[in-house]
Amino acid sequence: MGRTLDPLLARNVQWAQRKIADDPQFFQRMDAQQKPNYLWIGCSDSRVTANDVLELDPGQVFVHRNIANVVHTSDLNILSVLEFAVEHLKVQHIIVCGHYGCGGIERVFAPERGELFDHWLQPVSMFYRKHRKAFDALPDEQRLERMCEINIEMQVRRLAATPIVENAWARGQELHLHGWIYRIGNGLLRDLGPHLSSIAERDELPSIDDCVRQELASS
Ligand code: CO
Repeated sequence: MGRTLDPLLARNVQWAQRKIADDPQFFQRMDAQQKPNYLWIGCSDSRVTANDVLELDPGQVFVHRNIANVVHTSDLNILSVLEFAVEHLKVQHIIVCGHYGCGGIERVFAPERGELFDHWLQPVSMFYRKHRKAFDALPDEQRLERMCEINIEMQVRRLAATPIVENAWARGQELHLHGWIYRIGNGLLRDLGPHLSSIAERDELPSIDDCVRQELASS
């Protein structure tokens, strides 16, 4: 391929031509405005692309992705995306979508802590450390799967705690938060929850620590 990316640019031309062949007005419509109804907060993993797995066209989903779909409440990037999606685009649904086999989540079990993304993953690794005994009692694969699921549930709660979401709910704006997980091995999404649509629902939700303690106590 060399220095330039001509094959990719050629693919782009072919894609645009196919789009026009299917729907001659497609790009004119896109150019006029975007009106997505969904904000997707997903992992950067190259195999989990929102538009593909939802089979949505450009213009239908607003996207933020980072390693392990973490909602850092001091991250200007995610907060700006969230604010724009909620206050300007007025999306009605926000989907936090993680995936099984997430390398970011697997990292929290590793002893190394020297990379920048170890800082990024700190909320997840702190959670693991807090419940370490219980997690380490699980077989490796199950431990990773459960941590991938819990991370999603945790991030939905963190999202619900942001002033952006809280203010939207307080003024009566329709806004639903969802926690989904994607399995790379079969291409299927699953609704994990929690599903939150109001401040009251958020405040009634037991903490993720309590959920995990209860679950592990009963297993
Ligand atoms: Co991942």
